[in-house]
Amino acid sequence: MQTSVAPEGIRTFIPPHPDPAPENLSPRQLASLMRTNNIRVWSQRAYEEKVVVRRFFGRSSVLFNAPEAIRHVLVDHPEAYGRTRATLRILKPLLGEGLFTSEGPAWRHQRRTLAPAFTPRSVELLIPHIRSATTEMIGSLAATEKERVDLFPMIQRLALEIAGRTMFSLEMGQHGSALRDQIMHYGQRLGRPHLLDFVVPIGLPTPHDWARAWFRRGWIRLIDQIMAERLTAKTHASGPRDLLDLLMAARDPESGEGFSPKQLRDQIATMILAGHETTAVALCWSVYLLAHLPEVQGQIAQEAAAVVQPDSEAEPPLLKLTYTRAVLDEVMRLYPPAYVIVRAARQPDNVAGVTMKPGDLAIISPWVLHRHRKYWHEPDAFAPERFLPGALAVDRFAYLPFGVGPRVCIGAHFALTEATLVLAELMRSFRIELVTSRPVLPVAVVTTQPDHAPLFRLHRR
Ligand code: HEM
Repeated sequence: MQTSVAPEGIRTFIPPHPDPAPENLSPRQLASLMRTNNIRVWSQRAYEEKVVVRRFFGRSSVLFNAPEAIRHVLVDHPEAYGRTRATLRILKPLLGEGLFTSEGPAWRHQRRTLAPAFTPRSVELLIPHIRSATTEMIGSLAATEKERVDLFPMIQRLALEIAGRTMFSLEMGQHGSALRDQIMHYGQRLGRPHLLDFVVPIGLPTPHDWARAWFRRGWIRLIDQIMAERLTAKTHASGPRDLLDLLMAARDPESGEGFSPKQLRDQIATMILAGHETTAVALCWSVYLLAHLPEVQGQIAQEAAAVVQPDSEAEPPLLKLTYTRAVLDEVMRLYPPAYVIVRAARQPDNVAGVTMKPGDLAIISPWVLHRHRKYWHEPDAFAPERFLPGALAVDRFAYLPFGVGPRVCIGAHFALTEATLVLAELMRSFRIELVTSRPVLPVAVVTTQPDHAPLFRLHRR
């Protein structure tokens, strides 16, 4: 299976990426890299072979690159593989018992209930919120013309603003910075896996668990406060205005049950968190890569000018932003915001000839898969042409920015709609130039983040 574009279509731009790790890291070195930069744990072998088996604290930890093995774990036997102890420990204080952290019948009930809120039709309802926040950001960027601009934090704020407006129809104002502070604080300290997270059974709290529980109190207070403000806000709308309306009206098609207030709060925390950081990261990498490629910026600007009417209320025909979308697809291949999908085996199994015992880890790494030597032609080169209509088909299991199977990202269509529109609007409005030269490298802890924020200069088109 060779996924490729015609060689003449390949640009030679190779964006920065870290070198592979040396072979045979010790468990301690591995744990330390998992805390600081999870994509540096893989040696060259991982990018060439179909299966890589490692021992990690008495368990097997198996990287699966083979399509049939990925399909086995994520699509055909999802009930035999669950979220890991460390994932639940780290994420539950933020996400509670929401869709991401629940399992079994509770997960099935939530997924059925939430699904209608994320269909393309429902996402259409959210587009005006995306556009209003984007137009405002472009307005404030226009005032910075020719100055050095710290664009990444602005993109992160925009993504949070969009998450807040689409969820609550509220401008985020002060809530935005409070949410951001809490999320940053958690990501930089408590969200980093600690050795004890892997080895201590989940019922026994570690000192980190106590600190996380303390954090949760403040976090819940904040979400409750924003929800209360939204519920008392006056509205003249007759139908649903935002995700909160959709979630409050959501009913399980099988049991007819909706969400309790606590469940609703956990879903909201999940959607804000799972939704905004990942999309922000995809946009930051897009802007960084495109700053090296003025001709690609020009092509997006041209497409956007032909498709998006700046002041029109009419929704832009997203399907026509084909090139912009191909650029995003390629950016998420090279820098997948969700760099890894991990599952713990719940029962004995055999996958691609590997014996899995309960507790063993099955690792599917979009970071590795998307740069795998067997699946991609010139894997490290930036070539959006791979994703244009007419290019050779991309194997379903070689490209997984949103995962696959029943737990595939529920917000994928929303994320792609948001990112495509924001990127198209940005490029239609400005030509973006990089003014600092230090290469930006990916650091993967929660998402695949840039290691620093370079400075840009914007020129109005
Ligand atoms: C570029 C943006 C995004 C990327 C790359 C991304 C990626 C992913 C991936 C890879 C998974 C699967 C994880 C697994 O199988 O363990 C996932 C799940 C999930 N995503 Fe996203 N996501 C993005 C945006 C969003 C948005 C906008 C939302 C919501 C508004 C969202 C909500 C979720 C939720 C709730 C799950 C858990 C689904 C479940 O377990 O049933 N994501 N996402």
